[in-house]
Amino acid sequence: MKICVIGTGYVGLVSGVCYSDKGNQVTCVDIDEVKVNHLKKGIVPIYEPGLKELMLKNVKEGRLHFTSQIREGMEGAELIIIAVGTPAKENGEADLRYIKAAARSIGENLTDYKVIVTKSTVPVGTGQIIKKMVSDTAGHSNFDIASNPEFLREGSAIQDTFQMERAILGIESDRAEKVLQKLHEPFQTKIVVTDVETAEMTKYAANAFLATKISFINEVANLCEATGANVEKVAEGMGYDQRIGKAFLQAGIGYGGSCFPKDTQALVKMGEKAGYRLKIVPAVEEVNKEQRLRFIEKLRYAFGNEGLKGKKVAVLGLAFKPNTDDMRAAPAVDLVPRLEQEGVDVVCYDPVATEKAKEVIKNLQAAATLDQAVKDADAILILTDWQEFKEMNVKLLKLEMKRPIIIDGRNLFDPIKLGKLGYYYASVGRPIVQ
Ligand code: UDX
Repeated sequence: MKICVIGTGYVGLVSGVCYSDKGNQVTCVDIDEVKVNHLKKGIVPIYEPGLKELMLKNVKEGRLHFTSQIREGMEGAELIIIAVGTPAKENGEADLRYIKAAARSIGENLTDYKVIVTKSTVPVGTGQIIKKMVSDTAGHSNFDIASNPEFLREGSAIQDTFQMERAILGIESDRAEKVLQKLHEPFQTKIVVTDVETAEMTKYAANAFLATKISFINEVANLCEATGANVEKVAEGMGYDQRIGKAFLQAGIGYGGSCFPKDTQALVKMGEKAGYRLKIVPAVEEVNKEQRLRFIEKLRYAFGNEGLKGKKVAVLGLAFKPNTDDMRAAPAVDLVPRLEQEGVDVVCYDPVATEKAKEVIKNLQAAATLDQAVKDADAILILTDWQEFKEMNVKLLKLEMKRPIIIDGRNLFDPIKLGKLGYYYASVGRPIVQ
C-alpha cells in the first residue's frame, strides 16, 4: 500500500518507519525543511532505541521517503495519516492549529479518493472538523475520514508498534475500514471497529485511566509514608488481582511526558465544553503536581535545621522517563529551578537528555558523567529510572559524596541495603532509613 504520513514527530516517524518495514511504500511529509533534510541524511531528531537503524534500512531498501512537499507525498497514496502535534493551549485545551493546517493542505492537493486517518490525539469531534475542512478546500467529498489513535510509548515505540495490543479503527465507511484492516493485517492484533468519535474518545480515556493508576498509587504511597506501610508490597498484593493488574502501579515522582499531562488537561476541557464536569481526572492532576513538590520537602527534611541553602545536590535524571531525551513535562523542569531558588547548588546528569534539557531549563549546570555529578555532593536526588542509575555502585558512590544522602523518586534501591551502608535514604511510600 502507498501511504503518506503527515508530521514526523514521535508518532508520525515511528509509524512511518514501522509501516514501511511491513512492506508499504511510505512517504513522510513535514513542513520543517531542516528536519526533512536531516531525515534524508539519516539524522533522527529524537532519541528512540532502534528507530535510526530501522529507518536507514527501509530508506535503503526503497520503501521510505521524506519530503517537505505534501503534493509529492500524497501522489498515488491510498492512505493519508495525520500525525501532527496537538499541544496544549494555555487554557489546557488541545490546540488544533496543526491539524487544521494539515486538513487544508490535504484538501488543496486532493485529486483522487483517499482515506484520511488521524493518529494524533484529538478531542472528540475533530474528525468531523477535518472532514469539513478537506471537502471545503477540495471542493468535493471523494474521501473518507477515519480515526486510528496511537498508543505507543516513548522508549519502546518500535516494539509497541510491532507488537501492538490492539488497534482502534474509527470509521465511517466500509471502504475506509478495508484500507485500515489491510494496514493492520501484518501486525496480527486485536481490532476494535467503531465510529470516529468513539475512537477519538478511546485514546483519551486510556491515557487518563493510566494516569489515574499512577496518581492513585502515589496517594497510597504518601499514606504509606505517614503510616509506616510499604507501597511496593501493597502494589504487589493489589496487582495479582487480575481486575487490577500489576502494570502502572509503580509509585514515584509522578507522571510526565508528552501525553499524560496534556491529555488529562484536554479531557477536562472537553468535559467543560460538553457540559459535563469531570471529577476524577482533575484530582489525578492535582495529586501529580503535588507529588513532585514533595521531593523538595523530602530533601529539606533530610537536612533538618541546616536548611537547603548552599547544599550541593546531584540531580540524576532529566528526561521524564528512561530511554528517551524527551523533556516535556519532566519533573526536572519544575524541580531544578525551584531548588536553585532555594539557594541549592544543583548539578545534573542524564545519559542522553542533557542537550534537550538545556533548551528548557535556564543555566542548567550539567555534568558529563555520573561520577562528576555526585563528586562532593551533599545529596543525590533521583528523578529518572535510567538503568545506569539502577546499576550504580552505591558502596563506592558513598566515598565520592560529601554526605551519604539519597532522595529517590523512583524507588531504585532496597532501603535496608542502603541503611546498612550508612546512607540516609528516603524513597516513595517506604520508610526512611538512616
Ligand atoms: C504514554 C502511554 O503509555 C502511551 O500509551 C500513550 O500513547 C502516550 O503516553 P509515554 O508518555 O511514552 O506513553 O510513557 P509511559 O511509559 O506511559 O510513562 C508515562 C509517565 O508515567 C512517565 O513519567 C513514567 O515515569 C510514569 N509512570 C509510569 C509511573 O510513574 N509509574 C508507573 O507505574 C508507570
